Amino acid sequence: MPRHIAIIMDGNGRWAQEQGQDRLFGHLHGVESVRNIVEGAAEIGLEYLTLYAFSTENWGRPQYEVAGLMELLVDTIRKEVPTLNKNNIKLHVIGDIAMMPLNAQKELEEAKAETAGNTGLNLVMALSYSSRWEILNAVKNIAEDVKQQKIAPESINQQVFQQYLTTHAFPDPELMIRTSGEYRISNFLLYQLAYAELYFTNTLWPDFRKEELYKAIKDFQKRERRFGKTGEQIKKIIK
Ligand code: IPE
Ligand code: IPE
Ligand code: MG
Repeated sequence: MPRHIAIIMDGNGRWAQEQGQDRLFGHLHGVESVRNIVEGAAEIGLEYLTLYAFSTENWGRPQYEVAGLMELLVDTIRKEVPTLNKNNIKLHVIGDIAMMPLNAQKELEEAKAETAGNTGLNLVMALSYSSRWEILNAVKNIAEDVKQQKIAPESINQQVFQQYLTTHAFPDPELMIRTSGEYRISNFLLYQLAYAELYFTNTLWPDFRKEELYKAIKDFQKRERRFGKTGEQIKKIIK
């Protein structure tokens, strides 16, 4: 079983357009999939689930769509906190939250605080997130700590660098899923996905359900993760 699954939830707009509806209609239905997948992940005892819900680049969408998404976010979080608590799910948020509307920031802070004591699934929402933003931020903070002589440049290794990322408290995802038939990473966890297995499906996010999540996990379990070694070496380690 993977410990950490990351998902790029894509295809809401096309799902809506296929039915002659407004893009926001797709986002609304996308929330149903989020509920179902979070529930499905909790049911199989997954430790970490990261959902890419809004990228830094998504701020450049039409103002009406951005506003609709923010409203949907605030609304959903407010409604879902009791369910998160009932299912022992702890909410985390990664991303440039300072860019979010103040009411969304407040709602997120409250939801995090209210679920902080939960010990089951860690649900990580990537909001106003982009990997280049995260990496640049890490570099700036490292430079600042070097300047203040808190760390020495020669002590910077992968472990130290990792501590400066927004994901410092989580293991790297072993499996990354993207829906909607797009084969790209779109600025998501570029550093953390170094050795993740990638799973792509044509299913649009509003149609994605836990059965397909389990199918992706089964597919993952058939893969041979070599981490640069040879297949023979890996078989020896497993034996
Ligand atoms: C994913 O669906 C949700 C967000 C990026 C907020 P899209 O809105 O990207 O849907 P498509 O890709 O245009 O179909
Ligand atoms: C990636 O989807 C971001 C999220 C799912 C939140 P996009 O729809 O923004 O990605 P591109 O533009 O197709 O690469
Ligand atoms: Mg998209």
